[in-house]
Amino acid sequence: MKQRLDEWTKGDNHEYFDRQFKKTYQSTIKFCDWLEQLEVLNRESSCNIMDIGTGKGANLNYMNKRFPNCKFLGLDINKNLVDEGNAYFKNKNINNCKLECGDLYNLDYNRYKNGFEGIISYQTLSWLPEYKKSLSKIIKLNPNWISLTSLFYDGLVDCKIEINEFENPKKKNSFKTSFYNVYSLPRLEYFFKKKGYKSFKSQPFVIDIDLPKPDHTLMHTYTKKLENGERIQISGPLLLNWFFIYAEKK
Ligand SMILES: C[S@@+](CC[C@H](N)C(=O)[O-])C[C@H]1O[C@@H](n2cnc3c(N)ncnc32)[C@H](O)[C@@H]1O
Repeated sequence: MKQRLDEWTKGDNHEYFDRQFKKTYQSTIKFCDWLEQLEVLNRESSCNIMDIGTGKGANLNYMNKRFPNCKFLGLDINKNLVDEGNAYFKNKNINNCKLECGDLYNLDYNRYKNGFEGIISYQTLSWLPEYKKSLSKIIKLNPNWISLTSLFYDGLVDCKIEINEFENPKKKNSFKTSFYNVYSLPRLEYFFKKKGYKSFKSQPFVIDIDLPKPDHTLMHTYTKKLENGERIQISGPLLLNWFFIYAEKK
């Protein structure tokens, strides 16, 4: 299936990307905590890391502060975001974060293959039409490990979810269409094993701050507290099952 790209290349959602430079998402902080716990990265690590679907590179900006000896290359299909992110890094004299424009389904293997110990991707996999083709393309870059955040289910169910948002009930066409796919963790683990990534770990991301309910009924993440004090994350009609996953060759 060919990826529909309108949602990424038209009508840039700059507010979403700029917000993260001002205040790092809780999920990004916890994801980096997890990579440290797994002993994949620490302050002294000096590896080359690629971030797929990097947006403007706000997550790399944060990772650079925590892992200052690593070199980061962010890849995104949206050239405006890439140019703006690079201008930000240049302006701040940050030399080890660089963004490039490219399509993860059409990667330049001459340029990138064997160039990265690790490949990361924040909240992108569930927003693609599927995961097998996209991850196969990434695996062909031959990283030792791949780690990402997305929506997963710890059971044998895959959900293909397409979201259509409407301005009002009379409108025939939605103003925004996007995937919020939820992938089965055991099936993903099996997929990685078949590709030679023998070690697989996952962890639910349980948020520990309140996110207010928006004053509209469109997609926007907010939290609800359960009786046991745990928070669930909701967006529009969906319960967001955020997970971190990590797959390694050894
Ligand atoms: C939901 S956003 C996540 C952005 C960023 N990782 C973050 O956490 O804020 C998904 C990103 O993937 C990019 N993207 C979508 N399809 C892509 C493709 N085929 N190749 C490269 N980037 C893509 C989009 O332009 C967008 O910036």
